[in-house]
Amino acid sequence: MNALLIKNGRLLDPASGRDETTSILLQDGRVACFGAEADSQAGDADVIDAKGLLVAPGFIDIHTHLREPGREDKETIYTGTRAAAAGGYTTVCPIPNTDPVIDTQTGLKFVLSRAESDAVVNVMPFAAVTRGQKGEEIVEFGDLVYYGARGFTDDGHPIMNSEIMRRALEYSAMFDVPILDHCEDAALADGGSMHEGHVSTKLGLKGIPAVAESLQVARDVELAAFTGGHIHIMHVSKEVSLHHVRAGKARGVKVTCEVTPHHLTLTDDELADFNTCAKVNPCLGASDDREALIEALLNGTIDCIATDHAPHTDIEKDQPITDAPFGMIGLETAFAVLYTELVLPGRVPLELIIEKMTSAPAKVLHFEPRGTLAPGAPADVVLIDLDRKWEVTRDGFLSKSKNSPYVGRQLQGGIEATIVGGRVVYRDGRIVV
Ligand code: DOR
Repeated sequence: MNALLIKNGRLLDPASGRDETTSILLQDGRVACFGAEADSQAGDADVIDAKGLLVAPGFIDIHTHLREPGREDKETIYTGTRAAAAGGYTTVCPIPNTDPVIDTQTGLKFVLSRAESDAVVNVMPFAAVTRGQKGEEIVEFGDLVYYGARGFTDDGHPIMNSEIMRRALEYSAMFDVPILDHCEDAALADGGSMHEGHVSTKLGLKGIPAVAESLQVARDVELAAFTGGHIHIMHVSKEVSLHHVRAGKARGVKVTCEVTPHHLTLTDDELADFNTCAKVNPCLGASDDREALIEALLNGTIDCIATDHAPHTDIEKDQPITDAPFGMIGLETAFAVLYTELVLPGRVPLELIIEKMTSAPAKVLHFEPRGTLAPGAPADVVLIDLDRKWEVTRDGFLSKSKNSPYVGRQLQGGIEATIVGGRVVYRDGRIVV
C-alpha cells in the first residue's frame, strides 16, 4: 500500500467547502478519507505532521511556458516542472509557442513523452490553433484532441483572421475543448513596449492602447456566441475588456477568462526605471485596470488565476526595453505574491485565491476531479506555511530563467511541500524525487 497521512493541518478545500483542522489520508494516488477514519486506517502509512500549515489542493496553472522543444536555454520540462512544484503547482499546461510549434501529433507526443520521463508534476499540454501559429491554416483538431491536447492556443500571437477563429470555435463546440486566445489587435499593438498611458508618455515609449486587447475580446465573445464554442480569454489585463466578458457571461456565452498574479499586483509604474523584467504582454496596466481586475476576481467575472510563466534569458532581457522580449517568470512567486499583496491587506479572501488556483482552473479545462480534495480525487496537495516570510532572490529560483520583477521583494507565505499523486515531490526547499 502506498499511503501518506497528513495530520494536524488546516485543510482548506474551497470546492468541497471544507475548512477545518483534521487529518487526510492519501492512498494509492487518491484522496482516501479524513479525520478519525484517516487516523485509524493509516496503518503503516508515512506521516507528515502539518501542524500550523495550510493543506490545500495542489495548484493548477493553465498558462505555463516550458519552452521545450527549442528554447532549452530558457526552460525545459525538467526545470519548469521543478519550478512549478516549488510554487505549489501540481499540474501545468505548457503553451505550444515552442520551436517547433506544437501543431502536430508528433510534437504533442514529444511533449507528453518528455513529461513522462522528466516532469515532477502533471503536464496537460495545449496544441496550437493554427499551423506554426501563423494564423492562416487550422491544425488537425480531432487528431490532436485524440492524442491528448487539452485546449488550443496561438498564445504569444493573436489570431487576427476572424474566419479562422470562427472555425476554431466550431471545432471547440464539436470536441468540447476550449480555444484559449491571446487577445491583441496586431496593428494597434505594433511596436509598443508598454501600456499606452501617462507613464509611457513620460518615458517616451510607444504604448499599446487598452483597446488593442478589448477589441479582440469583444470579437471573440461574439464568435463564441455565434458558434457555441468555448472561448477562454488568456491573461485579461484591462478594465475595458472585462465589460465584454461580463456581458458575454450574462448572455450565456461560453466565455471564461484568467488573470495573472502580476496584473493583479503591479502597474505600469513598474516600468518607470525601464525594468525589462516588467515588460510583459499584455502590458501591465494603470492602477484603474488593476483595481478593476481585483473587483472582477471578487465578483466572478474572472474565472481563475494563471501565471503566464514566461522564462527569458538574461542576455535577452539585458537589452533596451524596446528590444527585450515580453514575459516574466511566475510559478515560484504566484501564491506568495497574491497572499502578500491581496490577502494580507484584506482585499481578497484566502479561500477565493485558493479556489481560483485550484478548482476554478480545473473547471475551465474540464480537469475535474482535480483541484479538490474530495474522496477519490487525485492526491495532488500543497502544504503552505502562511507565516513564513522570505525574500525573492535570483539564486532561489529553480526555474532556469530569473526574469522576475519581484526579485528583492519581501513576501509572506511559503510552500512547505508539494505532493503529486500521493508522492512528495518538493519539501523544505528541495525537490525530493
Ligand atoms: O509576456 C508574454 N510572454 N506574453 C505572451 O503572450 C507570450 C509570452 C512568451 O512566450 O514569452
